[in-house]
Amino acid sequence: MNEPTSLPGINLFDLTGRTALVTGGSKGLGYAMAAGLASASADVMLVSRHVDEAQAAAANISRDFGRKAIGHAADVTIPAEVDAMLAAAERELGKVDILVNSAGINIRGPIAELTPEQFDEVMNVNVKGTWLCCRAVLAGMRARKWGRVINLASSLGLVGLAGRTPYTASKGAVIQMTRSLALETAVDGITANAICPGPFLTEMNLPIADSEDGKKFVVGATALKRWARLEEIQGAAIYLASDAASYVTGATLAVDGGWTAQ
Ligand SMILES: NC(=O)c1ccc[n+]([C@@H]2O[C@H](COP(=O)([O-])OP(=O)(O)OC[C@H]3O[C@@H](n4cnc5c(N)ncnc54)[C@H](OP(=O)(O)O)[C@@H]3O)[C@@H](O)[C@H]2O)c1
Repeated sequence: MNEPTSLPGINLFDLTGRTALVTGGSKGLGYAMAAGLASASADVMLVSRHVDEAQAAAANISRDFGRKAIGHAADVTIPAEVDAMLAAAERELGKVDILVNSAGINIRGPIAELTPEQFDEVMNVNVKGTWLCCRAVLAGMRARKWGRVINLASSLGLVGLAGRTPYTASKGAVIQMTRSLALETAVDGITANAICPGPFLTEMNLPIADSEDGKKFVVGATALKRWARLEEIQGAAIYLASDAASYVTGATLAVDGGWTAQ
């Protein structure tokens, strides 16, 4: 069998004509992934709870990549706001082909010192928020028989870490949710995959980055012996959103500098 594996002149990673809704898109990994998708020619909507930050991030992407980029305020834990977010995305972008669930929080501490309210807060954003956003976009993706769902889990969804009980529980749940969603939607031309980032220097990690112990821990935990650079998340997002990943679903893609290889 000598069938061509790709067609000459076809860029498997080109997202021209695709639209992406990126929660947590105002900063950190969400912003980096939105910029990556725009660099591959997708139009994007960036969502966070603060409209000024979401709009400023969108303006930067528009300026840097010449794509349509919209900032929108929504709290992903509130069903009515998620519905309004989808309506705004469909109005502004025409449709949502790609959903990136990057909105997330972490509350650290020994289990005995954390409150039930803190546990609920982490689960609400990381698990319920992700679930609500997945649920919202499916009808449109099903109607068009094409969709890409990319959920941000974590290396801490694959391995444990002391002082992270709510966060690790939430990210393990995101991985399992993604697998079940992949099985449920494959028949509709939709893929669902999880990215498991290792340590990236975003606002979420400032408490660790600011401490000597934290810095040493990150260097020790990764095979590459360093923090990731923000742009190192982009390839995974572009890949999973593109036709290059058409046969990839239910997968967890670690971008963790080898954290979970050991
Ligand atoms: N950084 C890492 O090393 C790392 C490693 C593994 C996994 N991750 C995961 O990657 C994702 C992004 O992390 P990050 O480091 O980029 O975090 P970040 O810099 O703290 O950004 C979090 C983003 O989520 C938004 N957000 C938080 N709660 C929200 C809510 N209820 N509704 C809507 N938006 C909300 C924030 O905006 P507002 O506050 O304005 O709403 C912000 O845009 C998270 O799911 C995180 O768990 C990160």
